[in-house]
Amino acid sequence: MRTLVTGGAGFIGSNLVALLREEGHDVRVLDDLSSGWRENVPDGVHLVEADVCDADAVNEAARGVETIFHLAASVGNARSIEHPIHDARVNVLGTLNVLEAARRGGARRVVYSSSAGIFGELRTLPIREDHPAEPDTPYGASKLAAEKQCLAYAKLYPLDAICLRYFNVYGLNQRYDAYGNVIPIFARHILEGTPLTIFSDGEQTRDFVNVRDVARANLQAALTDGVSGAFNLGSGTRITINRLVEVMQEVSGIRAQVRYGSARAGDVRDSLADVRAAREKLGYEPGVRMEEGLAEYMAWARGAMGPAAAAR
Ligand SMILES: NC(=O)c1ccc[n+]([C@@H]2O[C@H](COP(=O)([O-])OP(=O)(O)OC[C@H]3O[C@@H](n4cnc5c(N)ncnc54)[C@H](O)[C@@H]3O)[C@@H](O)[C@H]2O)c1
Repeated sequence: MRTLVTGGAGFIGSNLVALLREEGHDVRVLDDLSSGWRENVPDGVHLVEADVCDADAVNEAARGVETIFHLAASVGNARSIEHPIHDARVNVLGTLNVLEAARRGGARRVVYSSSAGIFGELRTLPIREDHPAEPDTPYGASKLAAEKQCLAYAKLYPLDAICLRYFNVYGLNQRYDAYGNVIPIFARHILEGTPLTIFSDGEQTRDFVNVRDVARANLQAALTDGVSGAFNLGSGTRITINRLVEVMQEVSGIRAQVRYGSARAGDVRDSLADVRAAREKLGYEPGVRMEEGLAEYMAWARGAMGPAAAAR
């Protein structure tokens, strides 16, 4: 299969590129390297260094491609609150550029990386696809708008569109950044020997899904004919933040300094994806256990998070 991965230099995109190559598919990457890394793109993969808002560049990159995996985005709630116009430009207009390029270039399928952020406040557990979608940040709203655009294109044109709504993804190539997710933040503190802060009592739960399962779900979606729709994509299990920190200590053999802070406004108490629809329609089967995924991640992070970390 000839594929284009937008955002292929990023965390999830680079894992997807690796899987596609392993399975013998032809891969091209379009990425502006704004949060991705050139070294995440393996030798032999053509990198188009361009903004997804540049329609000509996207059209050119999509030429002759059968499947577009669209991951390029301005990622995260906090970033979108600070930069709402940028968020909408990249996430909404960028997605329209990808859809137009798919339609014009004759691609058969777009697999779009959506987010559980489209739901806003979570009201029921586990979270099914028909949970109310009432995002409470510009990011959630832009990801939802992009989903709707994908699904509208699937109705209008001979194009399958599959939107995968990721819950909390973690794993190899996930770096620490200012807007980062909890696992890289905790990993950095554990490896550097600095105190980490758990907000609230730590008994809140999250559905963490390993990036290898997410990459596999993208591939399965691309290999499934005649299906369009939005699918929740988590591990289908949840753990408390306290237990997460325990496992991170166990697998790294390092004792963390743990502090507790007050709950953050807007943080949900519990999160858990219902993954039955993805299982039934896409053959999705999350297979990486948390202990295994965290052991792999901590070993990687030890090398990736600077000399202080590597020396421990
Ligand atoms: N990490 C998670 O837990 C999570 C959860 C839900 C959804 N997602 C979605 O998954 C996708 C990938 O996220 P990630 O976690 O790998 O983040 P990431 O920041 O590592 O990857 C995003 C990639 O897109 C590229 N990019 C950003 N703006 C661009 C632009 N204007 N033009 C071209 N490329 C651009 C970046 O350089 C980066 O390589 C995103 O669509 C995100 O919304 C991620």
